[in-house]
Amino acid sequence: IEAFNDRERVIKLKPEFLSFPKGFWWGSAWSAEQAEGRGNTGKGRTQWDMSWDAHPNRFYQGVNTDVTTDFFNRYVEDIRLMKQTGHNSFRLSISWARMFPSGDGDVSAEAVTFYRAMLSEMVAQGIKPFANLYHFDMSEEMMKQGGWENRAVVDAYVNFCDTCFREFGDLVFHRFTFNEPLGPVLGGYMEDFHYPNVIDFKRGVQVGFNTLLASALAIKAFKQHQTSHKNRNSKIGIILNLSPTYPRSENLLDVEAAEYADLFYNRSFLDPSVKGTFPVKLVETLRLHDLMPSYSEQDLCDIRENTVQILGLNYYEPRRVKARTHAVNPRSPFMPEWYFESYVMPGRKFNPHRGWEIYEQGIYDLCIDIRDNYGNIESFISESGMGVANEERFMCDGQVQDDYRIGFIQNHLAYLHQAITDGCNIRGYHLWTFIDCWSWINAYKNRYGLVSLDLDTQQRTIKKSGEFYQALSRDNGFRF
Ligand code: BG6
Repeated sequence: IEAFNDRERVIKLKPEFLSFPKGFWWGSAWSAEQAEGRGNTGKGRTQWDMSWDAHPNRFYQGVNTDVTTDFFNRYVEDIRLMKQTGHNSFRLSISWARMFPSGDGDVSAEAVTFYRAMLSEMVAQGIKPFANLYHFDMSEEMMKQGGWENRAVVDAYVNFCDTCFREFGDLVFHRFTFNEPLGPVLGGYMEDFHYPNVIDFKRGVQVGFNTLLASALAIKAFKQHQTSHKNRNSKIGIILNLSPTYPRSENLLDVEAAEYADLFYNRSFLDPSVKGTFPVKLVETLRLHDLMPSYSEQDLCDIRENTVQILGLNYYEPRRVKARTHAVNPRSPFMPEWYFESYVMPGRKFNPHRGWEIYEQGIYDLCIDIRDNYGNIESFISESGMGVANEERFMCDGQVQDDYRIGFIQNHLAYLHQAITDGCNIRGYHLWTFIDCWSWINAYKNRYGLVSLDLDTQQRTIKKSGEFYQALSRDNGFRF
């Protein structure tokens, strides 16, 4: 039973040249808060500044977001590096707090100028900009008003999105309403690693609902602009972190536990985003425990009528679960886990720095799920990556020799290639990340980039994986 896993299919991957579809998007991703630095447009403080002020020691080596990778000042040089590492597309996020320092009110003209200049440079270099509108960063004022718990914040966010559609619509290729909307729920209301650091699942459910509503209302606003858009293929979507979920065994209790985990962590955002409806079993379970959010019929109608046109899939690790063997405290606010326990499968590979299981077949299973259960909607891998601590250990002649990252990318791409061969509508692969960037409470502990960053000098150096990525993009494939 320990080794049994009924959803795994062993795919025989052939060692051959794996060619990807013409026009495949090769690129990487990062976010404003993690890479831009403060800059000089009068950017408002965000919840990360609030968290750092309150508990600087919670951040690895006490490093905050004042400087990060300093993309604000170095974007011309960095976009050249994108070219050198084979990017034909790149996902960044637009900082709401830079555009509207207090979240609402007048847009910052300096911020508009900065983003237009940066996006124009990217376009001029032949790199398609993918712009995300929320990547875990909100202004202090909006946070103090209750953040995503407050419906008025949803309206302010939609106004910010509408402004971005108007100001940057001619430069952006695809845009996304949210990156990993599950993140603020988990981090802020369940696991104590994001502001407001409370443990209250009911409030978390309201946050989840309000972000889905905000996404739908932003899509509704975008459709007004889309009709006049010169590139009719330019779409709006959402980026979800999805973990294919596997039961420990075929025992019905384990299988049921896996269904609940899948429901709470995957389908809760996937169904409303792509189908416009919530899974019935999820609603029944929330109702049973008096955890339903407040909403109106109009909200449900907006969610139903404004589904995504493209889907970004962030895949890092699978989720393995088993039926509960320990009694649950019925007053525990951590409700989803009343229904399952996490399970570490023996004999698996793990990334020791991040603690995540490396399971390449998960990327295949995820794509097949989207093909079979979500209308094979146009998708791409919007994040996949490997964070490693103390990468200077692998430095040789001034370059990080990250063969482990090259192997990680190749193995995932082999399964992705198989998914495409099997009919999945996958249009690209974006690595997390481009240049080593700041990572929430882990700050610069784990490095993920194709390009290394010297924190003292801000010097950038292409890693061995960056050279590999350039060849991968040039050849539109690789020999596996
Ligand atoms: C993704 C996020 O979930 O994982 C990124 O979208 C994040 O913002 C990345 O940086 C890697 O995770 P971490 O916590 O190691 O930085």
